[in-house]
Amino acid sequence: MREKVTSGDWKPGDLIPSERELGEQYGISRMTARQALTELVNEGIFYREQGKGTFVSRNKITQQLIRLTGFTEDISARGQAPATRVLSMHMIPATEDLAERLRLHVGQPIFRLQRLRLADNEPLAIERSHLSFIGCERLLDEDLETQSLYRILESRYGIQLIQAEQELEAGLTNEEDAKLLNLPIGSPALYTRRTTYTNRDLPIEYARSVYCGHKYTFYTHMLRNQ
Ligand code: GLP
Repeated sequence: MREKVTSGDWKPGDLIPSERELGEQYGISRMTARQALTELVNEGIFYREQGKGTFVSRNKITQQLIRLTGFTEDISARGQAPATRVLSMHMIPATEDLAERLRLHVGQPIFRLQRLRLADNEPLAIERSHLSFIGCERLLDEDLETQSLYRILESRYGIQLIQAEQELEAGLTNEEDAKLLNLPIGSPALYTRRTTYTNRDLPIEYARSVYCGHKYTFYTHMLRNQ
């Protein structure tokens, strides 16, 4: 199966034959076929879609970890069409964890935004953002389905985004996220936590995101200190 992908016999997006068909084709048991498929899914060569089957992975989206860019910029730079579905947005009181990350007092109001992010109509990520700045409740009136959050912050609110810290972890999708991303429960995913700072070195956004594991590559460039 690996050879079929490298030789181009099976192309990105192609549906892989069923376990039964693979068993017949290769003279192996269904169980062995299933194991082989799972292995290739875990390696990111194949991916599963709920109720549809197993497919050859498409070329991945590279999120570079050098410049601070947002989802809209990353996807547009690839020539794809970014889209957003706002899952929820409201004001919440800061929990202890959020208060610490955004340097606030517990209970202070925070704007919480949950978005499903898509490229060319395919779901890629779920982003759960928490923002805090004076007047952040005005974000409730913004059209966050058609506009980039970074752009709104910069051009409408005059907030300069300067730097961010980001952590990256591997994990498996839970039921809620799998459903939104159109994946089977327990699919490989990349979890990020990003805190973005303004020119005044104030944390403005703390976001927890889940990226489909088989659709993303994170790229960084490292210099060794002299
Ligand atoms: C990235 C970050 C998010 C941020 C988003 C902004 O994906 N992980 O924390 O909210 O970019 O993207 P946009 O400007 O497209 O809304």
